[in-house]
Amino acid sequence: TLGGVDLLAEIDRLRKERNAVILAHYYQKPEIQDLADFVGDSFDLSRKAADTDADVIAFCGVRFMAETAKVLSPQKTVILPDMDAGCSLEDSCPPDQFAAFRAQHPDHIALTYINCSVEVKALSDVIVTSSSAEKILSQIPKEQKIIFGPDKHLGGYINRKLGRDMLLWPGVCIVHEAFSETELLKLKALHPDAPVAAHPECPPHVIDHADYVGSTSGILAFAESFTGDTLIVATEPHIIHQMEKAVPHKRFIGAPGADGNCNCNICPYMALNTVEKLYVALRDLTPRIEIPEDMRLKAKVSLDRMLDMAS
Ligand code: 13P
Ligand code: SF4
Repeated sequence: TLGGVDLLAEIDRLRKERNAVILAHYYQKPEIQDLADFVGDSFDLSRKAADTDADVIAFCGVRFMAETAKVLSPQKTVILPDMDAGCSLEDSCPPDQFAAFRAQHPDHIALTYINCSVEVKALSDVIVTSSSAEKILSQIPKEQKIIFGPDKHLGGYINRKLGRDMLLWPGVCIVHEAFSETELLKLKALHPDAPVAAHPECPPHVIDHADYVGSTSGILAFAESFTGDTLIVATEPHIIHQMEKAVPHKRFIGAPGADGNCNCNICPYMALNTVEKLYVALRDLTPRIEIPEDMRLKAKVSLDRMLDMAS
C-alpha cells in the first residue's frame, strides 16, 4: 500500500478505466512481471506494442523500449514509470557521434541494435533485437558492408557465428560486462553437470563457456527444455522469476560477478521502475513518451524493416 492505497487493486482499476495494457520486460522486478498483461523480450514487446488495441501502453522496461512502442503506435499514450530508466548501450552511442561514424563509412549500411535512442534508430537502416539479429543479417548479402552498433559483444558474436565482418561500435551493456569468468568457472566446478545459458550481450570470455546463447525469450525456452536439474543463467537475474514459475522443480543459479554473487548483475535502469511509480504513472498518465513526428517517421522505417525481416 502507498498512503493507505491498495496499489494492486488501484492499478487494476486504472488499467480498466484507461483501457491500458501493461507490458513488462523479463528484467523487471517479480511483482511487476506478475501484474503485467504481457511479459516478453524486446522483440515480442515491440510487436505487442504495434498490435495492441489499448489506448494506453504502460511500459515497464527501459526508455528505448517505450520509445519503440510510441514509434510503432503513435496514436497511443505511452507511459514509462521512471523516465530515467535508460540503458548503458544507448548512453554509449550519442546520435551526433553515430552520424559522424556513418559519414566516415558512406558505403556501409547501418544495422543497429534496438538498445539505442530513437535518434540513432532514425539514423539507421535496419533495427535488430537479440532474438532477430541472426535471421535479419542472414538476409543481407555477404558483399554488403555493414556497421553494427551499439553493442560490440552482440555484433562480435553474430560476426563470428555467421562469418561476417561488420564494423562494430564500441558499446557494452554494463550488466553483462560485469560477469566474471573466474567466478563462473568456480561455479561450474561446483555444478559440473549444469549447462550455462548466456545472453549475446555477454563478453566472449563468458560466451565461450555457454551451452546456449540467445535472447531473454530464447534463454527462457532453453530453461524450460534442458535436460538436467540445474541451470546457470548468465543474464540479468530477474528473468529467473519466470523460470521458477515455469519449471518449479529445477534449480536456476545466476552467473556471478567479481564479488561471487549475481546482485551486481541487476540492471540499475530496469530497477528504477517500481509498483508505486507504475500506479502514479497510470493515475496521472505521466511520465509520457513524446517524439517529434519527423524523427518518429525516420525511426519507423528501420523498425518496420525489423518487423518485416524477422517474420
Ligand atoms: P532481449 O531482447 O533479449 O530481451 O534483451 C533486452 C536487453 O536489454 C538485454 O539486456
Ligand atoms: Fe541496457 Fe544492459 Fe540494462 Fe539491457 S541489461 S537495459 S542492455 S543496461
